[in-house]
Amino acid sequence: MTTTAESRYAMSDAEATDYVDRGLSHLWVHTQQREELAKEDGLRVFVRGKGIHLWDTKGRRFIDAMSGLWVVNAGHGRTELAEVAARQMQELAYINTFAYTSKPAIDLADKLASLLPSTLNRLFFVNSGSEAVDTAIRLAKNYQYNIGEKKRYKVIARRGSYHGTTAGALSVNGAAALNKAPWEPLVPGAVFVENVNCYRCPFEKTYPSCDTFCARTIERTIQAERPETIAAFIAEPISAANAVSQPPAEYWPTIRQLCDKYGIVLIADEVINGFGRTGRWFASELYGFEPDIMTMAKGLSSGYLPIAGIAIADRIAREFDGEKARTFAGGSTFGTHPVSCAVALANLEIIEREGLVENAAKNGAYLQSRLNALKEQHPTIGDVRGRGLLIGVEIVKDPATKELFPDSAGLGDTLSAALVRNGILCRAGNIVNIAPPLVISEAECDDLVARFDGALSETEEALGVR
Ligand SMILES: Cc1ncc(COP(=O)(O)O)c(C=O)c1O
Repeated sequence: MTTTAESRYAMSDAEATDYVDRGLSHLWVHTQQREELAKEDGLRVFVRGKGIHLWDTKGRRFIDAMSGLWVVNAGHGRTELAEVAARQMQELAYINTFAYTSKPAIDLADKLASLLPSTLNRLFFVNSGSEAVDTAIRLAKNYQYNIGEKKRYKVIARRGSYHGTTAGALSVNGAAALNKAPWEPLVPGAVFVENVNCYRCPFEKTYPSCDTFCARTIERTIQAERPETIAAFIAEPISAANAVSQPPAEYWPTIRQLCDKYGIVLIADEVINGFGRTGRWFASELYGFEPDIMTMAKGLSSGYLPIAGIAIADRIAREFDGEKARTFAGGSTFGTHPVSCAVALANLEIIEREGLVENAAKNGAYLQSRLNALKEQHPTIGDVRGRGLLIGVEIVKDPATKELFPDSAGLGDTLSAALVRNGILCRAGNIVNIAPPLVISEAECDDLVARFDGALSETEEALGVR
């Protein structure tokens, strides 16, 4: 933690304590245990952001090494986006989105169509990634219905992947960290297949001799479930939740081919992957496939306002044209919000103007090479992987056998605390997620690596492997 001139944003101790007390009493912080938050320095309250940095109420500066939640692609503190929001609110804050639209909505849809793969030309805007996933599934089923495939209700998803918390998204969530039992029964029809992970292959095979078995074997599931019942397949091009595992080159073309063969709508969830995160505007480009539907959120506005959406391929959208009964019904009051659309458009302009996609590719490769070099001093680094600034570092007890630390070692808590002491905010456990804002400079990458190095040394000492 570094205290800088920015400490002018700090509060008095009494004021900071009062915020924590009132927060603990009245605010439900997502996914956290109140008891943990009540511990010394448990609830950290932030007051300011600039570039890749955040400051808390105590004036401490941190590197936002995960861009919040893979969100703040354009970096913190963009006054330009605040001005765009203020201007749009003054001109037109809201319009009945079920019947009319606004200039920024059309400008944003038009801009996205120019950035997206050539077949994705129609945009439907909502408010969160989960809502985008739900909408994509609903639209895929509705498409099947409209073309006469009325028995297709199943959705194939992958174990280990995360897609959100609304009912539809939750049902296709395969992330083991999220225990779905309390919410069952969920939406029927979710079918899970194994994920891709070349570091820890679920089939205990090795690439390339496996011939991408993990993708090919999905055909067996499709056949067993009966293709005429399957509406869609959903997956992230690179799954952040699934250890940031890199699919081999053949993986996505194989899945595209299977979806085409069996009439399955291919949904690429680019909620994290999109908007430059992987060094391309969209990660689908990396793997040379075009989805039928793409979900997007997070980096679409860099988090300056909530907005998400789905991009729809022409051949899918076409099936909603014609009679009234073919209409995709069910909208969302705040979907296509004029102010969010205006801010998202300005955010895309910043990403383009400042070459942030290219920066993510260049400095992402640099950051990965620096992290890889740490392996020499740190045998606990089993693997460094990812594309652009979507990076995962896998921590192991033994790099030769890839044995993980047992839960009882408390790796996640120890490493997270060490990272915070060294001024880094990110998610850390067996996988450390590193995904800073795309504005990160080479010098800032060096600073991040030096701090990570320090945090890992402290952790290794605490775990007795140093
Ligand atoms: C791949 C993916 N899809 C969907 C979601 C859900 O997005 P939200 O949290 O905005 O609802 C997330 C959230 O992290 C995500 O990572």
